[in-house]
Amino acid sequence: MKGIIVHKGKYGATRQYAEWLGAELKLPVQPADDLTKEKLLLFDYIITGSSVYVGKLLIKKWLKQNSVLLGGKKLFLFIVCGTPESEPAKQQDIIKRNVPASLLDSQNIFFLPGRLVKQKLSWKDALILRLGGWVEKDPVKKKAMLSDIDGVKIENLSNIIESVRKFTSGTAKLSSAEAL
Ligand SMILES: Cc1cc2nc3c(=O)[nH]c(=O)nc-3n(C[C@H](O)[C@H](O)[C@H](O)COP(=O)(O)O)c2cc1C
Repeated sequence: MKGIIVHKGKYGATRQYAEWLGAELKLPVQPADDLTKEKLLLFDYIITGSSVYVGKLLIKKWLKQNSVLLGGKKLFLFIVCGTPESEPAKQQDIIKRNVPASLLDSQNIFFLPGRLVKQKLSWKDALILRLGGWVEKDPVKKKAMLSDIDGVKIENLSNIIESVRKFTSGTAKLSSAEAL
């Protein structure tokens, strides 16, 4: 089974998770924009990762453009963002708005805590965030939007690593049984 990790983020949180996964699972890691359809066809399973900006997954367009090809493969998706586990409805909304229905398999979608460092943001992103903070009524959420966060930790990858390993060892067993 050949796998690849494809990522699209902005400030490095998604890339960091992709690189940790690549090292742990011994898989190649590539930015989504550098990958051709011809190359993608060579893989049996694909782990895609992307961050969220104003409700939009950066990899949304890429998922749509490649949905037919991806539909024929095993797909894992990790979403890096600020929406925590304690807000399942918001997480579901991100999935609904960004992942083509044909690729929906919630068991293979993983939310990972992101990173936000105000000083590193472009002026446009900093402004969007400040405007979001101003309109937010909930004081806790307001404070969270206006301060730095760093939830990027290698331990967050344990569930996705377990799922990928379960899939690869399951298919390996299946092919050796078929060979008998
Ligand atoms: C301008 C801006 C908008 C964001 N919008 C959202 C959002 O709508 N939902 C969310 O959960 N996180 C949001 N985030 C948090 C990012 O998804 C998070 O910082 C992520 O780790 C960025 O990863 P990256 O560095 O790989 O792009 C936003 C961050 C910024 C700077």
